[in-house]
Amino acid sequence: MQTLAQHLTSQAVNDSLSQLILTLADTSKAISHAVRHGALAGVLGATEQENVQGETQKKLDIITNDMLKDALKADGTVRGLASEEEDHVVEVSQNGQYLVCFDPLDGSSNIDINSLVGTIFSILPATKGPAPAGVLTETSFLQSGRAQLAAGYVLYGPSTMLALTTGQGVQLFTLHPETNEFLLTNAAMSISPDTQEFAINMSNQRFWEAPMQTYIADLLLGKIGPREKSFNMRWIAAMVGDVHRVLSRGGIFTYPTDNKDPKKPYKLRLMYEANPMAFLVEQAGGKASTGYETILDIQPTHIHQRVAVILGSSNEVDACLSYHGIDYSEEPNIE
Ligand code: F6P
Ligand code: MN
Repeated sequence: MQTLAQHLTSQAVNDSLSQLILTLADTSKAISHAVRHGALAGVLGATEQENVQGETQKKLDIITNDMLKDALKADGTVRGLASEEEDHVVEVSQNGQYLVCFDPLDGSSNIDINSLVGTIFSILPATKGPAPAGVLTETSFLQSGRAQLAAGYVLYGPSTMLALTTGQGVQLFTLHPETNEFLLTNAAMSISPDTQEFAINMSNQRFWEAPMQTYIADLLLGKIGPREKSFNMRWIAAMVGDVHRVLSRGGIFTYPTDNKDPKKPYKLRLMYEANPMAFLVEQAGGKASTGYETILDIQPTHIHQRVAVILGSSNEVDACLSYHGIDYSEEPNIE
């Protein structure tokens, strides 16, 4: 089986980008180790701090954020980073060519119940941002998802897996527990166009917009409804786990617009959750949309900006979008 390094060479990924991907992969091995030690290492539980989005930070959110930050500072290829756990962008190396956006531990509410968590990352060029050369500001990061050079996630599950795209399909690697190498176990992940499985937090049903209400109601009607087939539901409560299932066996995952808190109509973050996942999903033959706009085409306005997400099996995403009609004028402002 190919190692990750061999795979990057076989795909002719340039040396500096390969080095950065290997640094992220190596750090994820250390994160996997920390996560597995759990209560034995005293890393479970919350801190008294909140992140910029007002969420209480878990100890592991901070530990994993620091691990990634330290590794990226040592790497030499990184100009700057943006993280779910950092209020502002962080300047790394003057001569770095890349910007890295990451969610160091997605699904961290799952930590204390020993359930799925993962790291999500997105790599952008440092040169293409709107900021003047030599100056790193938040605007340097505000590039659409189409500008991503690579993206992926590492899932800390029963086995540790890395899903990666450099724009040449999606490859899945499994961490060998004895040799500590990521080995290629699926050379071409592919999302089936049709599915009978959906993932949504049903407890928010009364807060969704009318199109999503109707779409899910029709799925629930099964064979006697307009879709004329039965659907099953899964919800892992970690985007990384739900997207991994979609990449593995198809499905539709959505965290739609809701009016539970009118100041926060969307849950997932564009730069380090929606964009990298949308890149992977499109590379595996699926689709990713907000309901109104293709995720990878969004021009970001803020590094911590949130968006609605509907992604997965192409025909099912299209079915969902058909409920959203063509009047996009009512879309709430993103913040
Ligand atoms: O990062 C946000 C996140 O943890 C996602 O990984 C996940 O899909 C979602 O929040 C879970 O939200 P909820 O609390 O509604 O289940
Ligand atoms: Mn997250």
